[in-house]
Amino acid sequence: MPSNTQILLARRPQGAPVPEDFQLTETAIPEPGEGEVLVRHRFLSLDPYQRGRMDDAKSYARPVALGAVMECSAVGQVAASRDGRFKEGDWVLGGYGWQTYSVRPAKALIAIDPKEAPPSTALGVLGMPGLTAWVGLEDIGQPKEGETVVVSAASGAVGQVVGQLARIRGARAIGIAGGPAKCAFVKDTLGFDAAIDHRAPLDPALDAACPDGVDVYWENVGGAVQAAVFPRFRDFGRMVMCGMIAQYNTATGAAATGAPPGPNLGPVVRKRLRIQGFIVNDTGWQRYGRFRAEMLGHMAAGRMQWREDVAKGLANAPAAFIGMLEGRNFGKQVVALD
Ligand SMILES: NC(=O)c1ccc[n+]([C@@H]2O[C@H](COP(=O)([O-])OP(=O)(O)OC[C@H]3O[C@@H](n4cnc5c(N)ncnc54)[C@H](OP(=O)(O)O)[C@@H]3O)[C@@H](O)[C@H]2O)c1
Repeated sequence: MPSNTQILLARRPQGAPVPEDFQLTETAIPEPGEGEVLVRHRFLSLDPYQRGRMDDAKSYARPVALGAVMECSAVGQVAASRDGRFKEGDWVLGGYGWQTYSVRPAKALIAIDPKEAPPSTALGVLGMPGLTAWVGLEDIGQPKEGETVVVSAASGAVGQVVGQLARIRGARAIGIAGGPAKCAFVKDTLGFDAAIDHRAPLDPALDAACPDGVDVYWENVGGAVQAAVFPRFRDFGRMVMCGMIAQYNTATGAAATGAPPGPNLGPVVRKRLRIQGFIVNDTGWQRYGRFRAEMLGHMAAGRMQWREDVAKGLANAPAAFIGMLEGRNFGKQVVALD
């Protein structure tokens, strides 16, 4: 009998997650009810926000309950449908959880066309991370011709799209990434104007890449990278607060040791800076059609490159997730299921 293989949250991490925080289990494949669809997952999306869901902490979204399936978005094919909008074999975005099947309300699914782009891209460049980049630039970053945009975690799922869109909008894009291979990819494949390795001294590299300062800083990381970029803002600079992954394993839970020292915010007034956080789910999906049409155009014209890091098999999801939080992923982290 085929079954649904799942990975559950076995316990809440103390600091960085470890394999014992997860539990692999088998359960019956669920049956769709009226208006629902059974999705057979083909690709799972591993994203930094899932680390937050593992903590029982107040946030904009509820935590995963202990013993419940780990949260994620999935791309898959319809295995059974009780809704006229979908038939068996259709590709969809909107599966749920670190598992091989999920039952979803048909209205929560987005149809995808594998002839338009590889299905896994619906989790990356054409999915939530790409949409995050697009929305954050549209609403907050607003790069203009000739401006300098600095992007942290530049080779990752969000960062790679931010820099390429910034360039398409006429700005200079400077990427910060961990190690020479990621930096070479950011500069040579993604076409950023410069790439800076955050494992080497940041100040001289930022002096060279941003001699006139920074107009937009896209914050994915926090910590030492933020401290080095922040003093370089020009007047009317914008800081797009997308995430602070450097803190995700330490800001909550037993490992909490207090907030790390932040930058001196005095220049915010003098330089008339704008610092704004956002969550893509607030209003992003209402603009998904416009985003997808623009991105497909860039992809067809060769203006938008992307890279995925594909882990194979559900059992390898915990290791891939732990690795992503440590910077071991190279590109958008997905898990391919057979
Ligand atoms: N606001 C929203 O709605 C929203 C939506 C999606 C994502 N996000 C945020 O966007 C950020 C990027 O997400 P993503 O999915 O694109 O992940 P990603 O960049 O594909 O993967 C995470 C990367 O973060 C970097 N990193 C991890 N720890 C670091 C540290 N201590 N110092 C410096 N860099 C570190 C690593 O890259 P290097 O090896 O290059 O350091 C790692 O590869 C995260 O903060 C995430 O929470 C926010």
